[in-house]
Amino acid sequence: MHDATLVTTAGRDPERHGGIVNPPVYRASTILAPTVAEFESRKPFVGLSYGRAGTPTTFAFEEAIAELEGGYRAIALASGLAAMNLPLAALLRAGDHLLMVDSCYGPTRRFCTATLARFGVRTTFYDPRIGTAIASLIEPETRLVFLESPGSLTFEVQDVPAIVAAARARGVLTMIDATWATPLLLKPLRQGVDIVAHAVTKYIGGHSDLMMGVVTTTEAVHDRVRAGVYEFGAPASPEDCWLALRGLRTLDARLERHARSALRIATWLQARPEVARVLYPALPSDPGYALWQRDFNGASGLFGVVLRPCPTAAVHAMVDGLRLFGIGASWGGYESLCLVTHPERFRTAVPWTEPGPVLRLHVGLEDPDDLIADLEAGLARLTAAA
Ligand SMILES: Cc1ncc(COP(=O)(O)O)c(C=O)c1O
Repeated sequence: MHDATLVTTAGRDPERHGGIVNPPVYRASTILAPTVAEFESRKPFVGLSYGRAGTPTTFAFEEAIAELEGGYRAIALASGLAAMNLPLAALLRAGDHLLMVDSCYGPTRRFCTATLARFGVRTTFYDPRIGTAIASLIEPETRLVFLESPGSLTFEVQDVPAIVAAARARGVLTMIDATWATPLLLKPLRQGVDIVAHAVTKYIGGHSDLMMGVVTTTEAVHDRVRAGVYEFGAPASPEDCWLALRGLRTLDARLERHARSALRIATWLQARPEVARVLYPALPSDPGYALWQRDFNGASGLFGVVLRPCPTAAVHAMVDGLRLFGIGASWGGYESLCLVTHPERFRTAVPWTEPGPVLRLHVGLEDPDDLIADLEAGLARLTAAA
């Protein structure tokens, strides 16, 4: 079945709930056993055992994501950050070496340079566009290559199959933060990636009202990841799993609208004299366009805009006065957002050298004409203040 159908059917079992379409929110800490023998025969991470290991609401969400990803099993966690960082903690030990993409999400970068370093794991940050040359960075101690495509803030598209092939040839695992693409627009497990992680907080939730993450793996690494992650005690709450399932049902329809509006707005911005570059792989002029066309089933609504050099006060005049684009962290909700970003503060493998200010736009579900009018007025304020 196609994904548009699967998002409406996966993880549903109305017969178990009296015909009710959606599973209820099962809240639980204690799960009673009828006998000591039954209690003692419970297997770790199979079915119900204790609230921290999930309730039927959690399992419904996990089943839906595993089915969409084409994975073995999925693990719901308390945030997107937990979904990125905890599998690394589960799989790496002192003396190991990690290859982390230079355009990774900032707090994951800090997890590598602060926490993993404290526990004796070395990290090398690599150019997101490295492709097959990743092979030259693999050391005898390298255990995992982490990808994020497109990258945070700067939206470089990675050659996932090339990196996977190089890693596999040396027995190295691969993991990807695929939040931008959602489980619908990229299928990393089918490309040979071992672990795919999402911030459910973004498009899957879709309504800016929950924090959650999910990790889906192959059968080969599942038990190690699940057991290691469990020790951190950061499960997703059943309430959030319920909200995430509700968001998932409309994901395909929402993404189509986000992408259509984003492409229109990105194309409009590209032609503006105040704009130096638009960082959006769905634009034919983007350096990642060919890889994006080859590997992705579509685009979401998040992209970067590099302005021509101008004073900071002019950028603030533009952004502060926007009426429909809110100023705030996160993205993937129904509403539009605009953030001033600073990629130059994070990059070490490939310094960010664009001289102009960088914005990150999330194009929401509003009418794109209204969004363009809002941006047009903003660019007029920018020009006036400059
Ligand atoms: C690419 C990416 N990965 C992971 C995360 C972390 O997700 P969360 O905010 O749910 O912890 C974010 C959040 O902004 C993100 O943008």
